[in-house]
Amino acid sequence: MNEGEEGRRYDATPFLPSRRTGLAGLRRAAAECHGCPLYEDATQTVFGAGDPSARVLLLGEQPGDQEDRQGRPFVGPAGHVLDRALADAGVDPGHAYVTNAVKHFEFTVRPGRKRRIHKSPTLREMTACRPWLLAELRLVSREVVVALGATAGKALLGSGFRVTEQRGALLPWPGLDGETAEDGIAGLLATIHPSAVLRADDRDAVYDGLVADLRIVADVLRRG
Ligand code: URA
Ligand code: SF4
Repeated sequence: MNEGEEGRRYDATPFLPSRRTGLAGLRRAAAECHGCPLYEDATQTVFGAGDPSARVLLLGEQPGDQEDRQGRPFVGPAGHVLDRALADAGVDPGHAYVTNAVKHFEFTVRPGRKRRIHKSPTLREMTACRPWLLAELRLVSREVVVALGATAGKALLGSGFRVTEQRGALLPWPGLDGETAEDGIAGLLATIHPSAVLRADDRDAVYDGLVADLRIVADVLRRG
């Protein structure tokens, strides 16, 4: 951070389209976002992807290395786990819109190394980026929102969210920023982040837990 920038509030709001727009307009505007310093080192904004009439909105943390290069969410190793888990749980990926709490890749590089290592976003960056997420939530006709991991859960339920305590049960939709029209929203399901499977010693058990949680989403969609 530059001197003199210290204490400055980061906020994407000035970059949002001033007129009502669809997802395509939102995506175009997000490509130019300088709401926080993360755009400086990343390749591009990774906006949400999928059908605006999707019944499920899946929320991750922030793009990783592959997502940053390709410009689409969940196309790297965590995305492959997610795709497989959705298929095993019986959730049609064609019914899903996928996005992240923070839209730019954040990373560190060790001295003398090339590899870009993912760094979790700070609360300040999450807060800055939140207007994009709120706009997506308004435009995607989701019935269920899935929070993948702690960052996504905190973005939707606040800093008290604990994935171990709140995962695997359909929670009431919290209603974000004064939103009142809750019609047609079945709720929120929190589960682990798919990258937790890749880091686990017991990958199979952790993966099975992810699939079990996502089955609840498949049940809701079947009933709806
Ligand atoms: N992890 C995330 O949280 N989101 C992505 O898009 C990729 C990896
Ligand atoms: Fe804007 Fe979010 Fe990117 Fe920060 S991370 S520059 S707020 S899109």
